[in-house]
Amino acid sequence: MTYDTIAVETQGRVGLIRLNRPEALNALNARLIAELDDALAKFESDDGVGCVVLTGSEKAFAAGADIKEMRDKGFVDAFLDDFIGRWDVVARARKPIIAAVSGFALGGGCEIAMMCDFILAADTAVFGQPEIKLGVIPGAGGTQRLTRAVGKAKAMDLILTGRMMGAEEAERAGLVARIVPAADLLGEAIKTAATIASMSLPAVLMAKEAVNRAFESTLAEGIRHERGLFYSLFATGDQKEGMSAFVEKRKPAFANR
Ligand code: CAA
Repeated sequence: MTYDTIAVETQGRVGLIRLNRPEALNALNARLIAELDDALAKFESDDGVGCVVLTGSEKAFAAGADIKEMRDKGFVDAFLDDFIGRWDVVARARKPIIAAVSGFALGGGCEIAMMCDFILAADTAVFGQPEIKLGVIPGAGGTQRLTRAVGKAKAMDLILTGRMMGAEEAERAGLVARIVPAADLLGEAIKTAATIASMSLPAVLMAKEAVNRAFESTLAEGIRHERGLFYSLFATGDQKEGMSAFVEKRKPAFANR
């Protein structure tokens, strides 16, 4: 597949995807989602990639679903086509995805960022769910993921008013893992992704799966699941290597097996 709306590259074991529709502030249209799906599927099946960074431009991570593409849809078109269902590709990925957000992350842009495993924000980042101003509501998980991330009061404030919040407020509220100066954002995201990609891949995938369980189950069920994953890692060579390297005071050399 040739890409018109994203740019894809690898840097070492890091897969990098840049959303690239500058004329529309990276608004998410069907073409872009299909390309994102294709690029993520390739990284998922590539043993040489251990972590993915998803980013936009300096001005916009993404300003939401493409309003021009959605405007004329009717209910039956939207329901039968289930166009938002295709966005789940980001949430379904097993490898970790870091969202590196600079500028606008609005509507579906904020929702895609929240589907990633964590958000690194430039000090210029602006988050919001402005769908209410268009006569609709967030449709790609925003009412659920934002509420879990920042709590009911702030989620209601943002979703009912459509106001934007800056990086500092987003970090205080727990939406953002860390803020970095805009000029350092991509470098810091790639460095962080490289650190993750240097770990044992089975352990990384299981860690991600276990943390995600915290959002889908009770505490008791999540802890049972975590324990099963923890014990299963003792079947990997990487567990022997990681623990031996600690005892022998050297760096581990993980084989991802
Ligand atoms: N869809 C389609 N086009 C968009 C867009 C979007 N979501 N956001 C921006 N654009 C386009 C603009 O139409 C404009 O195109 P033209 O030059 O052809 O007019 C271009 O990008 C630049 O945008 P602006 O001129 O508006 O730039 P600005 O700097 O003045 O404002 C902004 C920036 C505040 C982000 C403003 O563009 C804006 O409010 N965008 C819409 C944000 C929004 O409502 N997002 C939610 C979409 S609905 C959704 O996402 C549903 C869901 O949950 C799945």
